[in-house]
Amino acid sequence: MDIKETINKKFKERFGEEGTLFASAGRINLIGEHTDYNGGFVFPGAIDKVIMAEIRPNGIDKVRVFSIDINDYAEFGLNEENAPEQSWARYIFGVCREIIKRGGSVKGFDAVFAGNVPLGAGLSSSAALESCFAFALNDLFNGNAIDKFELARIGQSTEHNYCGVNCGIMDQFASVFGKKDHLMRLDCRSMEYEYFPFHPEGHKLVLVDSVVKHELADSPYNKRRASCERVAKRLGVETLRDATMEMLNAAKSDITAEDYLRAKFVIEEKQRVLDVCDALVAGDYETVGARMYETHHGLSKDYEVSCEELDFLNDIARECGVTGSRIMGGGFGGCTINLVKDELYDHFIAEAKARFNERYGHEPKIYDVIISDGARRVEK
Ligand code: GLA
Repeated sequence: MDIKETINKKFKERFGEEGTLFASAGRINLIGEHTDYNGGFVFPGAIDKVIMAEIRPNGIDKVRVFSIDINDYAEFGLNEENAPEQSWARYIFGVCREIIKRGGSVKGFDAVFAGNVPLGAGLSSSAALESCFAFALNDLFNGNAIDKFELARIGQSTEHNYCGVNCGIMDQFASVFGKKDHLMRLDCRSMEYEYFPFHPEGHKLVLVDSVVKHELADSPYNKRRASCERVAKRLGVETLRDATMEMLNAAKSDITAEDYLRAKFVIEEKQRVLDVCDALVAGDYETVGARMYETHHGLSKDYEVSCEELDFLNDIARECGVTGSRIMGGGFGGCTINLVKDELYDHFIAEAKARFNERYGHEPKIYDVIISDGARRVEK
């Protein structure tokens, strides 16, 4: 049974009638990591792994939700004091609250949802969940009057205010704006964005999941962000987007060695995104790949969000001659993203599985990336 039928069956079982189906997607990011909350550039795309929900207004003052994957049910009212205990349900509660805070309308509804975005792999399953419900509640209760950027911000504020993660806008943006076969370059200062067709001829994009779980709440993620904000303040700029290496070097003796390294990574990463976009348009995959390796190095040594397993996967990629490879997403576990020549693909995957298994006692998971649409209504 596919995910749609599973949800539909469960919805009928629990709530009797039929609702409307909505979905939103997880995301990859080709390059531009930890730049979003620094006003820099990101270059993500939505993928063919989704969270899907069937939803129906229920005419009462309550939200009743069932999660198929967690096999758990939650019920809550729409006022601030009604926050549910289960962490998964807080994402949905948060989205409802954030819509209401912005003057939007949310009434009671019933929902059943499920997904195939791997959890904790750095593919933003939480943004997919937030975007799916934000899109759906906009459609069902607000006549789609809330614009797409605001939908993304509703998801981001949910993370900040209900889930303890001080994230940037990239994941929710990608999930809401995702378009089949296109990556999107977003300028996180001006919020201007551009779609880039993505057909890397002769190459495949593949994720290698270390299956090391990361937890961003109360995590070093928030500390990284705090470091960047400290340095920006010291340099007298709003965000590190407006800082240069010259400015940073001039202030070196006034900041900690750790803060220096964090800011250095962010300043360098800004340019790499622009380089990769140009190289992609020119069909210059060698440059795209070279920048990806540089990003990995920076994330590992300067930003310090990698881990032994991901560094190991990056080494294997390099040794196999993979064009580009790097840790993807917030870090502290999850996947590497790899740009691999078609003829090298089988060899690389076999090597990655065998060598990782030999060292860590389990194989990494492999996901081929298919760039797909983001938040949407789904036909039954
Ligand atoms: C997480 C956050 C994003 C972004 C990335 C790192 O995915 O949710 O906002 O900061 O990490 O690029």
